[in-house]
Amino acid sequence: MNVPTIDINLYGPEMAADPWPTIRKIRELGPIVYNERGQWITAHDRVCRQIMSRPDEATMEGVMTSVFGKGAFIAIDERHLHNTLRNIWVAAFGKNGVEKLVSPTRRIINQHLDETLEILNAEGQVDMHPVFCRQIPAHVIAQMMGVGEDMIQTVIGWADDMASATSNGHPIDYDNDPCWLKSEQSKAELADFLLDQLNHRRANPGDDLISMVAKSEFAQQVPDQQLIVNLRQLLFAGNETTGNWLGHIVTILGTQPDLRDALNKDRSLIPAALEEVLRWLGVTHAVPRTICSEGMTIAGTDIPPGAHVMVMIGAAGRDPQRYENPDEFDIYREAKPHLAFGFGLHSCLGATLARMEALEATNALLDRMPEFHIAAPVTYGSFILRGPTRLLIEKTGA
Ligand code: HEM
Repeated sequence: MNVPTIDINLYGPEMAADPWPTIRKIRELGPIVYNERGQWITAHDRVCRQIMSRPDEATMEGVMTSVFGKGAFIAIDERHLHNTLRNIWVAAFGKNGVEKLVSPTRRIINQHLDETLEILNAEGQVDMHPVFCRQIPAHVIAQMMGVGEDMIQTVIGWADDMASATSNGHPIDYDNDPCWLKSEQSKAELADFLLDQLNHRRANPGDDLISMVAKSEFAQQVPDQQLIVNLRQLLFAGNETTGNWLGHIVTILGTQPDLRDALNKDRSLIPAALEEVLRWLGVTHAVPRTICSEGMTIAGTDIPPGAHVMVMIGAAGRDPQRYENPDEFDIYREAKPHLAFGFGLHSCLGATLARMEALEATNALLDRMPEFHIAAPVTYGSFILRGPTRLLIEKTGA
């Protein structure tokens, strides 16, 4: 069988800056394409769903297991064990759990908007990424876990190191890649920190997520190491991704004044607009899978055992077979579930939380920063976890 091939570096600066022409090329080549750099890739929504719905065949072995640790439920494909672990957290991240976080989240957002406006008023410009977008999710997840204010910037640094380890190339050179080695060091430091926190909560329980684990029946049955990798996974996942989404939202508000006015006048349009941002721009652009020992047939092509597959869920958001005029940003389009939060067994645990943060942040931006524009070209650090890394804004008319 003739398999379409391509030679692209998914990890290079060109893909981070503007992935869309390459994504189109991959999609047009076919539903499953071999990248000569040693990966199979798909940019078709239907095929992404097929792969993610079969975790027994397209597994988390490899990159995901190495990044998160074997005992983290994101890295476990065996349904029963995965669900047992995931269920510990489901209530906290569900609708009722997240509702309790609305008021602290508003406080966090307003406090960071105070700081943002102070810089904007003093200097005429402000980079929204470090002072606002990156801070909100880090403070919210820290609050949920009972992590002290004094540790948040250190946690952000650890999470950034973990994120860059997955965005630096494939195959990962586990012995020499400086990003990987830095990430391993950060993961170890984060694990030590969480073990201290866990022991402290055992003696002084509160009502945060770490205390919840410390008090759980489950904690009596598994080694601390497994509790730690799961807590670490949550602290990491609650950090980078939502910050990228907020960055896309600020970019769009700063480049589309008509849209901003429409949202301002009718706030009920905001949820659909936020989903459209995720569909149109994506955040987690590709998730890795490893094919099981029996191999797997994907879109009619036999993929060999052990093969590395990149499921391009960001590309799926612009698949013309699913969306009409997919390259158009249109908040009024027919609502259809996108893949930005994954699909199937490993679909995002934090989606409700992220949506609440994005909604609250957008309302606060409209209330308190009604007029601003992007002051310099926005830069992007990675294609895999894509969001603005420099997002300079200034007041309109200033
Ligand atoms: C815009 C924000 C977010 C995006 C785009 C996002 C995206 C994703 C995606 C695509 C997956 C599936 C990964 C895969 O299949 O390989 C996932 C899983 C996950 N996410 Fe999120 N995420 C976001 C926010 C969050 C937040 C705030 C948390 C909270 C801690 C979180 C926790 C998790 C966890 C624990 C999993 C693993 C679920 C499982 O294996 O059952 N995410 N996320």
